[in-house]
Amino acid sequence: MAVAVGLHGARLLVTGGAGFIGSNFVHWLTARHSDCQVVVLDALTYAGHRANLAGVPEGQLTFIHGDIRDPDAVARAMDGCDYVLNFAAESHVDRSIEEPGAFIQTDVYGVFVLCEEARRRRVRRFIQISTDEVYGEVLQGAASEAAPLMPRSPYAASKAGGDRLAFAYWATHGFPVVVTRCSNNYGPRQYPEKLIPLFVTNALDDQPLPVYGTGLNRRDWIHVDDHCAALETLLTTPGAEGETYNIGGGNELDVLQITRRILELLDKPATRVQHVEDRPGHDRRYALDCSKLRRATGWTPRVSFDEGLRKTVEWYRRNEAWWRPVKEGEFRAYYERMYGKRKVLGGTDA
Ligand code: NAD
Ligand code: TYD
Repeated sequence: MAVAVGLHGARLLVTGGAGFIGSNFVHWLTARHSDCQVVVLDALTYAGHRANLAGVPEGQLTFIHGDIRDPDAVARAMDGCDYVLNFAAESHVDRSIEEPGAFIQTDVYGVFVLCEEARRRRVRRFIQISTDEVYGEVLQGAASEAAPLMPRSPYAASKAGGDRLAFAYWATHGFPVVVTRCSNNYGPRQYPEKLIPLFVTNALDDQPLPVYGTGLNRRDWIHVDDHCAALETLLTTPGAEGETYNIGGGNELDVLQITRRILELLDKPATRVQHVEDRPGHDRRYALDCSKLRRATGWTPRVSFDEGLRKTVEWYRRNEAWWRPVKEGEFRAYYERMYGKRKVLGGTDA
């Protein structure tokens, strides 16, 4: 019978902790465990912002600007750490279609560098944050952890590589890896290339909301706090080593349904919707069976989609000082490059 290992006084390495989910996790954890130390290792790519960690108690945080592909930076960051959570990744499907190289480098090779160092140091647990996109599109029912991996974008394929590489360290060396596959997150501080922050900030600016193709593509949506709660639990769940867990919010919605809600919340007209040329290989549906996680931990999502989206929209409304400079920086050239070339198919009443 395995014995639970508490987080009391623990030191955690959070890679990618200046990005969206990683920074939410650091805030989540330090708010609940004032005796934990967090080391963030982040390369500060276009998606990472040091300011995302503002407000984390200084005495609990060590920030290291470095790359998970760099063994020296990884060794320095992991020094004295009991737990590792790997959030660092190239994370956007559209960018992976344009420039897949960085995805293979970070999402596969970076995982290798981390696993090697963590194995050498015998950390207590290593959580590899994977994604539901590794299953590919799930046209019917819901994918359990035993479903075959059929990734269909360079992002999903590179994440599948990292996911199985981390597992291989468990199978080969008994190194304590837990793999998590979460559905689409939303919440504060998400880079505006992703659907919800892009549409909320475009709507606030009275700009078009570019819906790919029909807008009938479905995802399962989870508030980032519910993801953080699941990860916190999995750090100490007895017997989780070598296991994979799906994490989903249980909110299956298509793009048009989300678009309509955003427009309603901001009191903007449906004429803002602009159907544009589809994403190549656009996965039609993702859906997860999360019963394994529920059975193992008792975890269940707590934030309803209506409430989570309302709060998220409110966060972007109040935090223009966060997203305005982001949208005027690297994002502007990205948006022009990626959306400028997409054929406009027409508007719709969402
Ligand atoms: P994000 O793009 O907002 O943040 C990624 C962070 O990783 C950034 O801070 C970036 O600077 C850092 N980073 C990138 N390459 C790095 C490198 N080589 N070395 C060190 N740091 C590097 O991503 P996110 O949405 O917060 O996603 C975090 C993790 O969760 C990723 O692994 C992603 O695959 C996974 N995930 C995301 C979602 C989602 O809906 N966003 C869903 C399931 C799983
Ligand atoms: P995204 O946030 O990129 O997440 P993922 O593709 O990894 O699930 O996209 C979510 C859905 O929204 C997906 O079906 C693509 C669609 N989408 C649009 O219709 N327009 C957009 O401008 C973006 C960014 C996404």
